[in-house]
Amino acid sequence: FKVPSIENEPMKTYAPGSVERRALEQAIAQMEQELPFEVPCIVNGKPVKTGNLAKQPIPSDHARHLCSYHEADVATVASAIEGALEAKARWESMPWSDRAAIFLKAADLVSGKYRYKLMAATILGQGKNAWQAEIDAAAELTDFLRFGVKFVEELYSQQPSKNSAGAWNRVEYRALEGFVLAVSPFNFTAIGGNLSGAPALVGNTIVWKPSPAATYSNYIIHQIFTEAGLPAGVIQFVPGPPAEVVAQAISHPSFAALHFTGSTFVFKKLWKDIASNLDIYKGYPRIVGETGGKNFHVIHQSAEIGNAVLQTIRGAYEYQGQKCSALSRVYVSSSVWNGGFKDLLLSQVAKIKVGAPQSFDNFMGPVIGRPAYDKIMGYIQKAKEAGGEILAGGTGDDSKGYFIQPTVIETKDPKMITMVEEIFGPVITVYVFEDKDFESTLDLIDSTTDYALTGAIFASDRHALLTATNRLRNAAGNVYYNEKCTGAVVGQQPFGGARASGTNDKAGSISIFYRFVSARSIKENF
Ligand code: SER
Repeated sequence: FKVPSIENEPMKTYAPGSVERRALEQAIAQMEQELPFEVPCIVNGKPVKTGNLAKQPIPSDHARHLCSYHEADVATVASAIEGALEAKARWESMPWSDRAAIFLKAADLVSGKYRYKLMAATILGQGKNAWQAEIDAAAELTDFLRFGVKFVEELYSQQPSKNSAGAWNRVEYRALEGFVLAVSPFNFTAIGGNLSGAPALVGNTIVWKPSPAATYSNYIIHQIFTEAGLPAGVIQFVPGPPAEVVAQAISHPSFAALHFTGSTFVFKKLWKDIASNLDIYKGYPRIVGETGGKNFHVIHQSAEIGNAVLQTIRGAYEYQGQKCSALSRVYVSSSVWNGGFKDLLLSQVAKIKVGAPQSFDNFMGPVIGRPAYDKIMGYIQKAKEAGGEILAGGTGDDSKGYFIQPTVIETKDPKMITMVEEIFGPVITVYVFEDKDFESTLDLIDSTTDYALTGAIFASDRHALLTATNRLRNAAGNVYYNEKCTGAVVGQQPFGGARASGTNDKAGSISIFYRFVSARSIKENF
């Protein structure tokens, strides 16, 4: 069959008085009235209530919680794994067009019937404002599902180009033998749908452990998959306890792959644990992970200042800097810094409103929780102790929610702690370089951190763009010219980084699907 032509989901504007703004406000109001919800594990299509209840707090109002969820116990995880293995034969032998139809229908449900509910869960539970929730839970999730079908269609059509006389060669893209473990983060609702959905699309069955801080939105995604016709057992929903669920899954002989987004620390630990279990597995597990970043903007003397400032603010502070791609270190030429960039940056940052994400007035909401708040404030303190100058922000208020002001730190030490370590919050550190030192600054950017996720180069001088692109060859998996380092679009900018940032298997592209199939070549003589 031919996949219908696919476009990126158009984004709604939420202009005052618009239909979508009213619909979203209603969905939020209804959710606030009905919360807290009770979320079970879903194993073999059935809710499992273990009684081990944990809470997903509302980060902008931590006295309340969005849901209580039943953490999986050992028996529940065991039956999730067994059920996934049992469901696999029927699922992978289902005609591809039928598997595709389920995910195309799920995409329509995300884009239509469930759009505002999923966004409301993301706004209340994960602290995104309406526009950030639209990018994520509405547009990106829809795109992952629709484009996923297109990419798999392309993958399946990759066939040997030669047949000898009397013979026909073909390649069959089988699902992996065993089950896939998906471990998803809090910061993008869409990533939960993609980490579980993408391997399922090519015929795998999945044990999915969502982030505790995104339990409710991820549970809604699971309900959407079910409503779209996903058979029982294909994606098993087993929220936490995180370490225990994951340890049990990777200790199983049929563990076939890890599809992970989260911290570098956890990913490295899992990789080592998987390595130490290698002898118990049937095969070599596929390990696919997207982890941390220490993403940069480098601003050349030829940059257009207004745009560079706007993009810097958006890259740094949208979703409170909690995107893996978020801007965190800024290298600015002294003539740009002193020629208007600094003043404009600080005057614009001073205007940023921080508060409850359900209010359309707030550009920034809360950070995700107590540990995040303490860690970010701790970094600000360490930067001060290391001689960093706080030019803006630097303060927080955790009395009701976990709010931190957008923070700008300036340092003369390019190896100062907040230039090097990932903070995952609304904090940038600026290093001003002499115009003549542009090239040596590029080497500094390349060598300052272990990460290599995203970066942006601001210059109108094409030579400068080229020099930076070449010198920073390995410093980022996604590079932008004169645009912020966040906001990769499915099907447009395949996303992922290398070095400590991940396996660079490129979400939102065909590449990721190769990791979840095991090809078989068939030669037939006539
Ligand atoms: N894909 C997102 C971005 O590019 C981050 O996960 O911003």
